[in-house]
Amino acid sequence: MTLLSLLSSLLLLALGVVANPVVINRSLVTLPLAKKYNFTSINNLLEHDQARARALKSRAFGKGGVPDTGINEPITDQAVTYTASVGVGSPPTYYDLLVDTGSSNTWIGSGNKKYVKTSTSVQTGDSVYVSYGKGYFYGTEFYDTVTLTPQLVIQGQSIGVALESDAFDNYNGILGIGPTDLTIGTLNPDTQSSVSTVTDNLHNRGTIPAYEIGIFFQPINATSPGNGEITWGGADSSKYTGQIKFTPITNIFPASAYWGINQSIRYGVSTVILQSTAGIVDTGTTLILLATDAFNRYSSATGAVPDDNTSLLRITPAQFSALQGLVFTINGVLYTLTPNAQLWPRSLNTQIGGTAGSIYLIVGDLGSASGEGLDFINGYAFLERFYSVYDTANQQVGLATTPYTLATTN
Ligand SMILES: *[C@@H]1O[C@H](CO)[C@@H](O)[C@H](O)[C@H]1NC(C)=O
Ligand SMILES: *[C@@H]1O[C@H](CO)[C@@H](O)[C@H](O)[C@H]1NC(C)=O
Ligand SMILES: *[C@@H]1O[C@H](CO)[C@@H](O)[C@H](O)[C@H]1NC(C)=O
Ligand SMILES: *[C@@H]1O[C@H](CO)[C@@H](O)[C@H](O)[C@H]1NC(C)=O
Ligand SMILES: *[C@@H]1O[C@H](CO)[C@@H](O)[C@H](O)[C@H]1NC(C)=O
Repeated sequence: MTLLSLLSSLLLLALGVVANPVVINRSLVTLPLAKKYNFTSINNLLEHDQARARALKSRAFGKGGVPDTGINEPITDQAVTYTASVGVGSPPTYYDLLVDTGSSNTWIGSGNKKYVKTSTSVQTGDSVYVSYGKGYFYGTEFYDTVTLTPQLVIQGQSIGVALESDAFDNYNGILGIGPTDLTIGTLNPDTQSSVSTVTDNLHNRGTIPAYEIGIFFQPINATSPGNGEITWGGADSSKYTGQIKFTPITNIFPASAYWGINQSIRYGVSTVILQSTAGIVDTGTTLILLATDAFNRYSSATGAVPDDNTSLLRITPAQFSALQGLVFTINGVLYTLTPNAQLWPRSLNTQIGGTAGSIYLIVGDLGSASGEGLDFINGYAFLERFYSVYDTANQQVGLATTPYTLATTN
């Protein structure tokens, strides 16, 4: 090794250390996530993701309170979701909540699991309304004790209690871990102006060491358990490999209203799929969605054809053998989805209306052209391969490889 290369690797090492997040005692602050499937409504995996994309774009303008135009389909159409068991009240009643980085109100009361009031329940005087890509909820806002883990208990957390909700029958509500500003306008008469999220309260009261969340999803297939985990106040070093690299929240609207980042994408060594542009990282989206022009470039590069049975792209075994890496460049760091990581898990083909021997891809069409300020969504298909960190304090998103980045689980 030359002195110069030694020096530069030491420099990189030093930079990496600076970029490292707070790593905390995982036994204190992690909450396991349970995977849920719903494959009964096949064919609409892509449709669900596209509806959510449209809603996220339009919601950024109305900041939560304004109903979306013409988009009101069930969020439960989503094929794969992760839920957390969260306690409310004292003693707590536990609710299975959908974990959502794309919204920020936490609420309970759907799916026939009614709010059990205890001495800690205090009505705030507000009503609350939030619309989602699919569905909405309307209800009453309360302060109550929220228990994430025995060590993470939040007194007086503002939560919604649904009087009415559409499309949340399989869950008991939502754990909203998006940016706080998404709660603006959700309350009426609005005694709080914005709602302090679970993460805000944990940080502001000194319960967690850093103003950030780490999320891990294990890739799913028919045989793997598909575990997930959310960590408040840091990143769980047992769940990622190498170092976490950060990128600032993009300043391009509407991606900037969410966990938005700048990113470019290429296929293989040099085929440009998407020039540097803004989009979001989102736990509420199953696929990786690309603006139509970028999606078309990916289809041509891979030779894939649209499959009517699944609405996903389909490739032949020969095209799969020739499939190259899909390379995401984020703040100068390369994150590569291997050929296997670009596939829908083959063991789950028939569950989405596909044929057992076929090969489907997890890159979908966003449904609009690039240049609209939200040109991609890195959903589960991405987050199952890279650990993600949502850092409110420094307004940045962190990513790292995991033991599953290169796994051939699909
Ligand atoms: C982490 O927390 C657990 C449970 O509170 C404790 O037993 C353990 O000693 C802690 N580990 C470290 C390294 O602090
Ligand atoms: C699955 O989704 C369909 C269509 O939205 C819904 O009717 C059904 O209740 C869901 N089933 C389960 C078990 O989640
Ligand atoms: C993101 O890209 C836009 C457009 O190229 C640029 O203006 C901005 O500085 C980039 N970085 C952030 C953090 O927004
Ligand atoms: C689509 O589904 C039908 C009915 O199951 C099947 O006969 C057909 O072969 C499928 N098409 C493809 C391209 O897989
Ligand atoms: C599913 O994933 C596991 C690892 O998580 C792997 O061992 C197994 O072979 C995969 N199953 C299929 C059918 O691909």
